[in-house]
Amino acid sequence: MKKLLSIILSAALCIGSIAAVASDTDTTVTLQINNPVMTVNGANKEIDPGMGTVPVIINERTLLPVRAVVEELGGIVNWNGDTREVTLNYGTDEILLTIDSDVAYLNNEAKTLDSKPTIINDRTMLPIRFIAENFGFGVDWNGEEQIVTITKTAKAVAEPTVEPTVEPTDAPTAEPTEVPSDNQAEESKILVAYFSNTGNTENIAESIVSAMGADVYEIEAAQPYTDEDLNYNDSSTRATVEQNDPTARPEIGNLLESIDEYDTIYLGYPMWWGQAPKIVYTFLESYDFTGKTIIPFCTSGSSPIGSSDDNLHPAASGANWVDGRRFSVSASSSEISAWAAEGCRIK
Ligand SMILES: Cc1cc2nc3c(=O)[nH]c(=O)nc-3n(C[C@H](O)[C@H](O)[C@H](O)COP(=O)(O)O)c2cc1C
Repeated sequence: MKKLLSIILSAALCIGSIAAVASDTDTTVTLQINNPVMTVNGANKEIDPGMGTVPVIINERTLLPVRAVVEELGGIVNWNGDTREVTLNYGTDEILLTIDSDVAYLNNEAKTLDSKPTIINDRTMLPIRFIAENFGFGVDWNGEEQIVTITKTAKAVAEPTVEPTVEPTDAPTAEPTEVPSDNQAEESKILVAYFSNTGNTENIAESIVSAMGADVYEIEAAQPYTDEDLNYNDSSTRATVEQNDPTARPEIGNLLESIDEYDTIYLGYPMWWGQAPKIVYTFLESYDFTGKTIIPFCTSGSSPIGSSDDNLHPAASGANWVDGRRFSVSASSSEISAWAAEGCRIK
């Protein structure tokens, strides 16, 4: 089945690419940060139909989904899941990029990238400037509107000399979607850890996981909270009693063995009486967060995040704490992914 899928993907790529090269005209593609819709010669087009892929800014670099851009401009993209390499062909030029490596090859000559290609949400993302400069595309950045414009003039078009691979192999040959998500999480070293009882914080956590290609961990109480435990109209119920007790540290039933492999931790919780639930303190006090970046987020009925994030700092004092953010239950995935990418940039 996997072989069949590879053949179909490769064949689809082949047909699509040849058709693109055949249209020997000027092409202008614009992409906007956090916008899943690009324009191609003025017409709106979803960057990645059904996937919600958006350009993002990470570490002050604008990362674009490489497949969409290069194919729109008439290039060919091949993905080797075994070696995690992306080969781009345009005219007679070939660029070879490796995920998480700052060494790229232009026509077999090694070049150093100022930002490494990465995978976000199953898509290969990379700064466009290196590709544009070497393939002869124009690039313009509008910082106010956060729009990248990439222009190909017809004279830059040449027939590709390298055909995409069509042989069936066990490895995925075309689409980064073939990369097992576990591998991405190992590479990304990002963890989304959250506590949630009624699913609101969990929903936000899932959007961050998907935007950042992160691992996910739900903090589960050894003794789960019942509806009665969560009844904040009664001051004698468990959640309220715990929140009023500075020493309360409810036991976690599913502690992770280690968090050593993670550099960045998004930490989500519901607001309980204006503060993070005490079990979040249990989580923080269970590990050494020295040198790690923690990015808090919360959901609430209406309260802002207030002092709830700052009050967590002593529980992981060696961490680099980023200011937290409260989300309403109706926050859109683009709003969440924009914030998540920015949170990473701040560290
Ligand atoms: C014990 C308790 C206390 C709460 N205190 C607040 C509060 O102070 N301010 C607020 O806006 N919402 C408060 N809420 C509402 C939750 O913060 C809100 O429903 C949250 O989105 C639930 O997240 P979850 O679905 O991930 O558990 C409280 C809820 C509970 C159970």
